[in-house]
Amino acid sequence: MSSVLTIRGGVPLTGRVTVRGAKNLVPKAMVAALLGNEPSVLRNVPEIKDVEVVTSLLQLHGVTVEKDPVTGDLTLDPTNAKTASHTAIDAHAGDSRIPILLCGPLIHAIGEAFIPDLGGCKIGDRPIDFHLDVLRQFGAVVEKRPGGIHISAPQGLKGSKISLPYPSVGATEQVLLSATRAEGITELAGAATEPEIVDLIAVLQKMGAIISVQTDRTIRIEGVQDLGGYNHRALSDRNESASWASAALVTRGDIFVQGATQRDMMTFLNTYRKVGGGMDIGDDGIRFYHRGGKLNPLVLETDVHPGFMTDWQQPLIVALTQAEGVSIVHETVYENRFGFTDALIRMGANIQVHRECLGSVPCRFGQRNFLHSAVISGPTQLTGTNIDVPDLRGGFSHLIAALAATGTSRVTGIDIINRGYERFTEKLAGLGADFDISAAE
Ligand code: EPU
Repeated sequence: MSSVLTIRGGVPLTGRVTVRGAKNLVPKAMVAALLGNEPSVLRNVPEIKDVEVVTSLLQLHGVTVEKDPVTGDLTLDPTNAKTASHTAIDAHAGDSRIPILLCGPLIHAIGEAFIPDLGGCKIGDRPIDFHLDVLRQFGAVVEKRPGGIHISAPQGLKGSKISLPYPSVGATEQVLLSATRAEGITELAGAATEPEIVDLIAVLQKMGAIISVQTDRTIRIEGVQDLGGYNHRALSDRNESASWASAALVTRGDIFVQGATQRDMMTFLNTYRKVGGGMDIGDDGIRFYHRGGKLNPLVLETDVHPGFMTDWQQPLIVALTQAEGVSIVHETVYENRFGFTDALIRMGANIQVHRECLGSVPCRFGQRNFLHSAVISGPTQLTGTNIDVPDLRGGFSHLIAALAATGTSRVTGIDIINRGYERFTEKLAGLGADFDISAAE
């Protein structure tokens, strides 16, 4: 049953939250287990919807997934992998985009894959053309079938020289998961190099893969015939950490984020400091806090790693509504990631979105009809309102805006937030937020 949050704003969030394994790594490491010929163990696994979806999909394909009741560690045994029915796959895929990454491992394990039409956050068109092109370059045959696509490789997957038109995270992972057991060498130019990708490479290396990452975005994979299992602790979720950091700033609070890692968040930390946020960086986490003075406006462009990550933009924009002056944010990764600003405007924020590129990062969306630059003038007092959560990061931004606002907000559609934020209502309660949860009528 879906729930409604009634939030009474104005309370600074203070205390401690623990962030566990990254949503953008854990499901993919689970998929990688399918490439092995023995069980794998994945540690630091968060309780989020995407993990449930991948668990069901793997189980449908004959993979045993056991969860340790105390630690939550997963043991994934792929030794009895088998074909699954298309209707069952479709029913279990939920609204996740992870199923597309099952292609390579399923072809290696059982010779074919069926991928249902995909979901995921509605933050742009989110096509899968790079994925399908990559699979074809490995020799796969891709056929459209009712409700999804069928992929097979009658001759097996063969290594290839591939160049991505854009450093897509998912397409890079597609190449890694397909190439490690393909015959021969694969060279991928224009790869994404996000920390989650490097962690996936670490998982695959533990399994026996031979992968090198060069400094010019080229990844080279020497295919091996068999892979074993892995035992791996997932890297921490830097997107969740950045979200709590922004929550501290927006609500004038003070939050210690246990598990936040400096190394993977350097670009965010530089920006946070420029806005005027306080931080104490420790070995096991980072304390983020409002320093009491004014916040500074800034000019920001999202980009692939090591740039400012697109998933950090939305919560930070809420903080920029409280900065003294005009800020500009140019979104260059997704063409349609400012829909969430509508609710902020209704709450009193002063934000205009523009079609023009207001920045200098080469962007695919300029001179087209995409509202992908935002101008934010602050500071503005936010007031509570009714909000229906549009997507994961936009939804979290709405929550923190409501927590900072005067008055009461009624937030529906909060289940989307469970896709990427583990036990977020418990965490909010622990930080002193004033809210109730009730069932939606
Ligand atoms: N793109 C294409 N064709 C493709 C694939 C991607 O045109 O076949 C485009 C996308 O439409 C987008 C750009 O390339 O404009 C980048 O997409 P990318 O493939 O890098 O994104 P993704 O793999 O689908 C992951 C994360 C996103 C995160 C992006 C960028 C997961 C499950 N999702 O998505 O996370 O924003 O990389 O870093 O890993 C989130 O956590 O809220 C989230 C959306």
